[in-house]
Amino acid sequence: MRFLTAKRRHRAARPALLVLALLLMGALYAAVAPAARVSADTGNSQQVAEGKALFQVTCSSCHGMNGEGTSQGPSLVGVGAAAANFQVSTGRMPMANPGAQAPRKQNTYTDEEIAALAAFVASLGPGPAIPTEDQYSGEGLSPDELAKGGELFRTNCSACHNFEGAGGALPNGKYAPSLVGVSGQRIWEAMRTGPQQMPVFSSGALPDEDVRAIVGYLDTLHAQPSSGIAFGGLGPVAEGLFAWIIGIGGICLIAVWIAAKGARAR
Ligand code: HEC
Ligand code: HEC
Repeated sequence: MRFLTAKRRHRAARPALLVLALLLMGALYAAVAPAARVSADTGNSQQVAEGKALFQVTCSSCHGMNGEGTSQGPSLVGVGAAAANFQVSTGRMPMANPGAQAPRKQNTYTDEEIAALAAFVASLGPGPAIPTEDQYSGEGLSPDELAKGGELFRTNCSACHNFEGAGGALPNGKYAPSLVGVSGQRIWEAMRTGPQQMPVFSSGALPDEDVRAIVGYLDTLHAQPSSGIAFGGLGPVAEGLFAWIIGIGGICLIAVWIAAKGARAR
């Protein structure tokens, strides 16, 4: 404190320092932001036009004629091709009826239609593009990287998706879906676009190599047949309780048996 209030310092020093700090933050943000919001691959203009036509038929009732948003649905400016691809290919969009959550359902669009819709949404503003395989593939990772993926998953995802990615309930009738059998591309897109209750995990926070580690970890986990009775991966509480009841119970039985045998032998 003495340092800040010292008379020797010029009166303008503190405001100047503040302005300097703000400028520095701005510069830092400018340097980092473009990396996180990869400028969208807008595709060719014909694809955008096709996407726009399709959008105005099926999506505009909620998202507006130009994706600007209405009281029924959010603006799609800047959500990126990745968000559109994720939402439409998982059947979440077009949303059938307003509910607690737009659920995963059968998607009725062809790949070309999805690509056109994504190109149109991408043309609205820069946002995460549809990833290429080297951004999300979990193949060929070392055991160390897989272990890191497990750690990242437990730290960032398991609170909602459960320890084994089996999914779980959230407040207000919402839920985090099971991640069993979900592709790496979808995991990348969900992390970068944060659908509904899920937070966005930007490439600044978790770079692509971390996404790949998580994908690899989930693939290995779900490829393994679980041994013994599955408790739905409910985590340490349920498993600990079972260990307690069966384990301690068993030890008690053995103790009783030994005592009875010992009594007979005497
Ligand atoms: C019945 C209304 C409705 C229709 C029709 C609909 N949407 Fe949506 N859409 C919503 C709502 C509501 C949300 C926000 C969901 C949430 O975050 O809880 C949303 C979210 C989205 C998002 C995610 C935005 C983000 O911030 O990541 C995308 C992308 C999207 N919609 C695309 C589409 C496309 C493409 C179509 C047409 C194929 C479509 N939607 C049709 C209501 C609708
Ligand atoms: C705060 C809770 C929360 C956290 C933390 C969270 N998610 Fe989610 N996640 C959700 C919810 C809710 C949905 C469903 C959104 C929807 O239906 O649109 C979801 C959906 C997903 C999906 C889409 C699955 C599908 O049905 O296609 C994937 C993949 C996913 N999350 C992966 C992750 C990963 C990986 C992490 C950690 C890096 C993570 N999530 C962290 C809540 C969370």
